[in-house]
Formats: sequence, structure tokens, C-alpha cells
Amino acid sequence: MRKIFLNLGKQPLANSFLNDLSKKTLKNEFFYNLKISFDIYSYLVSVHTPVNPKRQYTNKYAHRASESKTMRNAFKKIAYKLNKKFKPNLIMEIGSNDGVFLKNFSPKKVVAVEPCKNLAKLTRKKFKTFPEFWNIKLSKKILKYKNNKFDLIFSANTISHIPNLKETFLAINNVLSDRGVMIIEDPSLLSVIQNNSYDQFYDEHVYVFSAIAMQNILKKFNLRLFDIDIISTHGGSLRYYICKNNSKYKSTSKLINFIKLEKKNKLNKFLTYKKFAIKVEKSKNQLKELIKKIKLKNKKIISYGATYKSTTVFNYCKINSNLFDYVTDTTKNKQGKFTPGTHIPIISPKIGINNTVDYAFLGAWNFKREILNKEKQNIKRGLKFISHVPKTHII
Ligand code: TMP
Repeated sequence: MRKIFLNLGKQPLANSFLNDLSKKTLKNEFFYNLKISFDIYSYLVSVHTPVNPKRQYTNKYAHRASESKTMRNAFKKIAYKLNKKFKPNLIMEIGSNDGVFLKNFSPKKVVAVEPCKNLAKLTRKKFKTFPEFWNIKLSKKILKYKNNKFDLIFSANTISHIPNLKETFLAINNVLSDRGVMIIEDPSLLSVIQNNSYDQFYDEHVYVFSAIAMQNILKKFNLRLFDIDIISTHGGSLRYYICKNNSKYKSTSKLINFIKLEKKNKLNKFLTYKKFAIKVEKSKNQLKELIKKIKLKNKKIISYGATYKSTTVFNYCKINSNLFDYVTDTTKNKQGKFTPGTHIPIISPKIGINNTVDYAFLGAWNFKREILNKEKQNIKRGLKFISHVPKTHII
């Protein structure tokens, strides 16, 4: 039974950057109501009414995982670690994006699944790529193609995007070898609660998993969680190590301790989420107050990184181009467009980060270290960053 604890209001698709602000474009802009709920039996936190994935993962999908050095390095490191530890003969990635993880493996060993056709085109040059949604039908097709099961299935920031978990895990069961390991990386619910990072909730994050919820789900599909890594990517994520129920792997003390920590933080109690919702509203009021103060001083504010997360913040806090002059982003196919729902222009940082900017809201707060390092010179001359995580503050 699911109980709603947070209403982030009317929201557009986080990824639906607008090409122009013509009447026709604005009329066709899609909105839905973003409410978040908690399942009192499985402890799973989810978007109460998910959007149809066919609307989201199109041939115009904007996110490129290799845009940031942090992510490129993180994928290289984990690819090396997994290869050494599990010595897989065959590897599959579900949600391969632009191939940033797979490029660390020999193409002969690899199969990619990527439903966004524009991204699948990128990986297809080097790797066998299925430009389709992950489901039982596709798992059977891949099995037929390879005539063998996979020792390593990797999926970063993808499983949390698929509404039908039953279909997802049944399909994984079809293709995972008996000695095989599935690795899932997704944002951590504990980090969301601790950082008050409510912007991890957007249409694509249908689920924000905790280890306790993940354990409960896997049990239903003859799968088992046996280890976990606590990682810093995407503002705090978890890397789940999953095997078949009768596999040799034993639960690690790291996993047992992390589950204890989640329980200590009461991630299995509805009251935790009600308290979180109160803090979220406070965060909105504080951010708006700070922006108002800055604007009264006639200072220029922009936003740094046209992230999916900032779509939630902008639409929930009603931040538009009256408050922020523009958003900068390094991704070429976001530049020249407008932010979903709030219609702020997006431009290249090469043009947008200059002496006229007084404050930059850190939309890409999960890359704080990388960005502050990159912007050392601008900070020296007086540029100040604002973040709403974990509390609204000037950095
Ligand atoms: P993400 O949090 O969804 O991965 O998106 C991060 C966005 O921030 C992505 O569009 C690239 C952008 N970005 C910059 O514009 N400058 C930077 O220095 C970094 C690290 C990211």
C-alpha cells in the first residue's frame, strides 16, 4: 500500500528542453503532477503516477553520461574493478547511454541496450547495440543472439527509471548466468533524506531505492543482494551487487552495516518522509528568499548546469527568466534551447560565465568539486555560487 508524502506540483519532463518559445511549442508542452509515495510493505519510494517511458526516452534524449570528467573517471574505475573481481566472459549494459562504461571493455564481449535511438547510434559504431526498452521479449531476443548467458550485467541510473520492476527483474533472471552478477547504480534514498535533495525526484526517477527496499524487491524474483558500495556519484548513490538466490556469494558486513544504518535513519517508517516533506517546503522558501534579496541588490544570477534535477527545483520554486538570466551547460544539444516548464535560455558557459555574473545557482550540485575547481579564476574575481543542498547557502 502506497502513501503519498510529497507533492512537487505541476512538472514538465525533466529532459524536455524546448527548441523555441513559439505558441505552438508552449501549447504542446507536457506537464504532469509529481507526487512521491512510500510503500508501507516494501519500503519502496516512488513517483506515485509515472509517466509513460515512450514519452521520455526518445531519439532526442539530451543527457550524455560522458559530459563530466567525474563520471568518465568513475565508470573507468568501476569497469576495471568489476573485470578484475568477476572475470566476466560476457557483459551486458542496460541503458548504455553514450558508451562511457562499455568503452572500457573489448567489443567482442559486450552487448548494449539503449532505447534512446540517438544514443544507441553512438554505441552501435563499436558495440552490438539493441535500441530497445529492456523487457522480457528483448531478453529472449538477446539470449537467442548470443546463445549464452551473461556473467556481468551492469546498469547505472537506469533501473530506477523503469516503472515495471517485475518485468525488469524477470528479464534479468532470463539472461544472468548462474555465476553471474548484476550491478545496479542508482541514487541513494538515505542521501536524499540526509541532503534534503528533493530534486532527485523527477519523472525519470520513478524509484529512489534504499538497500532495504531493494532487498525486498529482489526476494520476489529469486535474486539476492550480497554487497553494496556507497558512492558519491549523482550526489550520493548506491552500487548494488546482486546474484541468483543459490549463488556462492555471501552477504558482506558492509551490506549488513549499511542496512542497519538505513534502519537507524528510519527509512522504513512513513514518519521520516512526512518530516522530509516539511524540510523540502522550507528549502523552497529559503531559496526564494535568498534570490529575492540578491535581485533587490540588482545583482545578476544565472544557473550552472541545465540538469534534470534543476527542472524539479525551478518548477517547484517557480524560478523563471525574471529571476535567472540564463543557464549555462557544456552539453552542445542543450545549448540554444530553453529549460522545461520555466523557459530560461540555455547557453554555453564559454559565453555565459563572464565578469557580469555575480551569482550562479549550482544546478549541477552533484559536480560541485569539479565545477568549483574549474571556476577558480571566476571565484577569485568575485563570482559566488549558491546551492540548496543540504541547506540553501552561498558557497
Ligand atoms: P546530470 O547531473 O544530469 O548528470 O547533468 C549535469 C549537467 O551539467 C550536464 O548537462 C552537463 C552540465 N555540466 C556543466 O555544464 N558544466 C560542468 O562543469 C559539469 C560538470 C556539468
